[in-house]
Amino acid sequence: MRKKVRAAVFPVAGRGTRFLPATKASPKEMLPIVDKPLIQYAVEEAIEAGATKLVFITGSTKRAIADHFDTDAELERALAEAGKDELLRSVQDIVPAGVSCIYIRQGEPLGLGHAVLCARPAVGNEPFFVHLADDLIAGSPGCLAQMAAEYARHGGGSVIAVEEVPRENTSSYGIVAVDEDQRITQSVEKPEPEKAPSTLAVVGRYLLSGDIFDKLENIGAGAGNEIQLTDGIADLLQEQPAYAYSFSGKRYDCGNKLGY
Ligand code: G1P
Repeated sequence: MRKKVRAAVFPVAGRGTRFLPATKASPKEMLPIVDKPLIQYAVEEAIEAGATKLVFITGSTKRAIADHFDTDAELERALAEAGKDELLRSVQDIVPAGVSCIYIRQGEPLGLGHAVLCARPAVGNEPFFVHLADDLIAGSPGCLAQMAAEYARHGGGSVIAVEEVPRENTSSYGIVAVDEDQRITQSVEKPEPEKAPSTLAVVGRYLLSGDIFDKLENIGAGAGNEIQLTDGIADLLQEQPAYAYSFSGKRYDCGNKLGY
């Protein structure tokens, strides 16, 4: 039977070297878009999709993320005393009632697949979202909510958000091939253009079956000598369906300066 998706995993351990010196002492996920950091857009999208358990896979230098989602009693008192009610609500509502945050340290940067595997003790054998905050997707409903609806339509399996990219860019993405029902038949991490099985790129949104964890535990290092989520998905496909989903909305690749 299909389960509700309650957990969302945010891999935020990466160093963000492309944005140095901005990211020297502050996480790249805290880069603001006007008045909110990237990670808050991520969390809002997950909550809109029904997530109540937010699992952050963090590393050193990422303490600001936990602070951002924690209560700041002193700030709240000061805003209340100054009568700044709207601002007060904007900080109080960052994490709504009934939503909890869990932080797990990824001791070593062994890859996205490894980061996701670190979430296993918090997620258990349940379906869960993975959200890469670098990929900001503007749209309503949000991309994860669209994917939850797609998951309900299929009655289970996994759902991976995809977008067409120019063939010369395939080596920057996970690339999937699909059949006529959008069921994924191949999943390859960062193939060279001449080797790519299609030009359908995985963007940073996944709704994964809990069975992915066993796969991630058993795959070795792949592209870039890292444990790749894309390879874990390739293994999962052998046993159960994963569907590519072309979301509606506009993606901004905030992992590079121009996209940001
Ligand atoms: C990661 C994934 C890749 C995916 C991309 C989306 O790569 O490994 O499969 O296409 O996110 O943003 P990264 O951008 O971390 O190199």
